[in-house]
Amino acid sequence: MTKEPTVIYEKRDGGVAVLTLNRPSALNAFNVQMRDEIHEALTAVRDDDDVRGLLVRGAGERAFCAGADLTEFGSAPSQAIARSVRWERDVWGLWLSITKPMVAAIHGYCLGSGIEIASVCDVRIASDDAVFGMPEVGLGLIPAAGGTQLLPRLLGQGRALDLLLTGHRFTAPEALRYGLVSQVVSRDILERRALDTLHTMLGAPSEALAAAKRTVSDGLDLPLAAALALERRIGMTLA
Ligand code: COA
Repeated sequence: MTKEPTVIYEKRDGGVAVLTLNRPSALNAFNVQMRDEIHEALTAVRDDDDVRGLLVRGAGERAFCAGADLTEFGSAPSQAIARSVRWERDVWGLWLSITKPMVAAIHGYCLGSGIEIASVCDVRIASDDAVFGMPEVGLGLIPAAGGTQLLPRLLGQGRALDLLLTGHRFTAPEALRYGLVSQVVSRDILERRALDTLHTMLGAPSEALAAAKRTVSDGLDLPLAAALALERRIGMTLA
């Protein structure tokens, strides 16, 4: 029996590709099949010169992604094994290595891995019905897809620890205030706004977009003086 695809990957006009998380009946929960299919789609994004930017979204009315698939946790010999299986293909490393701009369009539930998926995108735009939360610690786990590292970098240590340790649910306006998303719009214009944002980015040369992404992400791992030297060095390559 062929399995329903958990990811839909399409190429659109103007150098845009769209990756849709596609398990609406399970609120797009992230499972091993989805991990493999995201890996395949991201490889296409990385290698296809026609693709200059990516939109990530969730299928269905109710969720961007309600986190890791809890049923897989139950079927593995232990939670630790269930989580290590997810690391067998380094989706997150691949995602972070791609220098093409990526925008996440977030509606409905965006929990756990949903936030992690959104966090590896460059820009996050939410609809006003979005609900966020990091439930892992309450389940006796910690995030496994970069949440403990990306959230402090995006939001600062205090806010990230607040979200990680309390697991509390928060709304789109709160996500905007925390800096997790940069825009909140009504649901009916979410996708349009995300595509417009991506197209605005794609008005710039690909080399400059890639250089800006690399300088920001690599620079964050360096002391300031080294990061400024990196900026100079990468800037020279564009001159
Ligand atoms: N893994 C697997 N299935 C999930 C899921 C997950 N993380 N989140 C939701 N689903 C499934 C439900 O099992 C249900 O399937 P069913 O219709 O076959 O019973 C379907 O999606 C709809 O979810 P349901 O719980 O009925 O909707 P709700 O409106 O009552 O609640 C949530 C929505 C998001 C609050 C609730 O589904 C939830 O808490 N999910 C788990 C979130 C979580 O802890 N994720 C992180 C794991 S580390």
